[in-house]
Amino acid sequence: MQIFHPTSAPLIMAVFCSLLSSLVGGPVVVKYSREPVTKTEGHFLSLKCLVQYEIQNCDIVNNWWYIKPAEGEAAPETEPKLITDPNHYVITVNETQKEQMRQRNIFLSFNSLSLKDSGYYQCDAKCLNSGTAAKGHLVYLNVTADPYKGLKVSTWSGQLKADAAVLAFSAILFLCCY
Ligand SMILES: *[C@@H]1O[C@H](CO)[C@@H](O)[C@H](O)[C@H]1NC(C)=O
Ligand SMILES: *[C@@H]1O[C@H](CO)[C@@H](O)[C@H](O)[C@H]1NC(C)=O
Repeated sequence: MQIFHPTSAPLIMAVFCSLLSSLVGGPVVVKYSREPVTKTEGHFLSLKCLVQYEIQNCDIVNNWWYIKPAEGEAAPETEPKLITDPNHYVITVNETQKEQMRQRNIFLSFNSLSLKDSGYYQCDAKCLNSGTAAKGHLVYLNVTADPYKGLKVSTWSGQLKADAAVLAFSAILFLCCY
């Protein structure tokens, strides 16, 4: 994951559409990290969703969803909202093939996080052929206020201190998130 900003915390989600499940309409296995992500506003963040499926039995469609948190409690409140706004999110997809399996990465990236991005994120996938669908857990993204936001326009040395503190904070997050 070195290609990303060093403080990005990609999440891994694997959705398996197996031959068996698409034939008998059985369960689809979903695997990924459900660790909440905490990040300071203004930073870059990329969430990764990994979908694995069988080429022959699964024409895949997948989406990222956003659920606004309830005021003052941890439970989700609103209906999941499909993430589409290209002005705020960048969604990139790549795919590799290994024998009969395909692996698709769907990255949901924020160039500059804002406090409003706090909430639950979820990735899902569906095999069009069989209708078999898989949904990941809700992952909580906690965007915290940048305590140095106002200080950055002050003196040069003040700026330096603020940046150093932000870097130190990022380093701690980096260790925690991996
Ligand atoms: C997808 O792209 C990312 C970033 O460009 C890269 O790190 C990753 O290896 C690629 N994965 C596949 C399966 O091609
Ligand atoms: C978000 O993170 C901050 C700092 O770690 C913490 O104080 C706050 O309680 C968190 N908020 C939620 C809703 O988890």
